[in-house]
Amino acid sequence: MYGIIRGKSVILGVCGGIAAYKSAEILRLLKKHGANVRVLATRNALHFIGRHTLQALSENPILVDLFDEGPDASIKHIRWAQEADLVVVAPATANLIGKFANGIADDALTTLLLATDCPIVIAPSMNTKMYENAATRRNLEQLEKDGRWIMPPGSGALACGTSGAGRLPEPAEIIDYTVDVFTPKTLAGKRVLVTAGPTLEPIDPVRFIGNPSSGKMGVAAARAAAHRGADVTLVLGPSNIPDPPEKSISVIRIKTALEMRAAVLDHFDDVQIVVKAAAVGDYRPVSPREHKIKKIDDQLTLVLEKNPDILMELGKLKKDQILVGFAAETQFLEQHAADKMNQKNLDMIAGNIVGLPSSGFSSDTNQVTFFYRDGTSETPPLMEKYELAHLLFERIERRLHVT
Ligand SMILES: Cc1cc2nc3c(=O)[nH]c(=O)nc-3n(C[C@H](O)[C@H](O)[C@H](O)COP(=O)(O)O)c2cc1C
Repeated sequence: MYGIIRGKSVILGVCGGIAAYKSAEILRLLKKHGANVRVLATRNALHFIGRHTLQALSENPILVDLFDEGPDASIKHIRWAQEADLVVVAPATANLIGKFANGIADDALTTLLLATDCPIVIAPSMNTKMYENAATRRNLEQLEKDGRWIMPPGSGALACGTSGAGRLPEPAEIIDYTVDVFTPKTLAGKRVLVTAGPTLEPIDPVRFIGNPSSGKMGVAAARAAAHRGADVTLVLGPSNIPDPPEKSISVIRIKTALEMRAAVLDHFDDVQIVVKAAAVGDYRPVSPREHKIKKIDDQLTLVLEKNPDILMELGKLKKDQILVGFAAETQFLEQHAADKMNQKNLDMIAGNIVGLPSSGFSSDTNQVTFFYRDGTSETPPLMEKYELAHLLFERIERRLHVT
């Protein structure tokens, strides 16, 4: 999913905390996303997770002792430090945090941390009292000042029987955070508005006209923009996807096309880029019934009226903003995309033919063609929606000159 770490050299540091068992899953996910992972475990980590588990999953020897036997063993930590693109220490114990904050290098992991220039993510995990202890607070503050990335721990029931802050976040959350840290902030200072998901137009209190949009493409676009440094407003139709965790994304949940229009117009003036990935219903029932329609008549006629064309309105209001639309078509994609671009004054369209199993609604991957204002187009290969979202922003940054 996260192409940004594909082929990168990632060091996973594992310390002697109760959550060390989660490092196996973190390692598996890093590998799944294409990273070359090398593990440095502290001696105490091996009380909690087996050397052979880490070794087998990483497909590399793991480093524990500075003074290991073997050809280049004694300089491995320096070579690995130089070759690393990114270091993630998860779980990081209070002990490791204290040592790193004070420049102590008394084992392979702490020595490597001092010997590398690459970004370092620290995921603290410990008993709440240990986490809140003045010494730990001081050490974490120091590491933050030193430019390290401290991932806030979760709260909840801890293994020691207490409850509070100090729980290691779930492996997938650690990967998300790491990807965020590692993504170049090419949209820093920019504000982006993204729409996602379907709209539902009520027929009566229990029925609606909708469409199968899952919101995955738009949410991926919001997250990719946030990871590239933008402040994002995500206007999200009814979708099972939880609110994205990134602090720089504010989510506005809406149901109908009219609600989406209101939210979009509210924010349009403040943004430089708009990506409209929502599948907005074109029509809505003229007068939704106040009470549930009973099954009495053999036929039922619904009278529909046109919803406002939000993209068209934005195209008219647009000053120097970049406006990107999505077009899902069942035929004549190129012609429809060109017409839509001109009629709605868009800068770019990502168009796809719906109905392919690995593309479009609900799927995790998408196959689109990018159409540009100058009449050119390109068709990137089928890819994960998150990766496609990065490609979309890369094209926006490179071809459309965001001001
Ligand atoms: C059962 C057990 C669980 C522990 N869990 C944690 C923990 O979650 N976080 C932590 O900071 N220390 C924890 N400790 C204490 C560390 O193991 C101890 O501070 C050790 O020196 C850490 O070594 P390291 O940082 O070199 O891995 C635990 C100790 C034991 C015996």
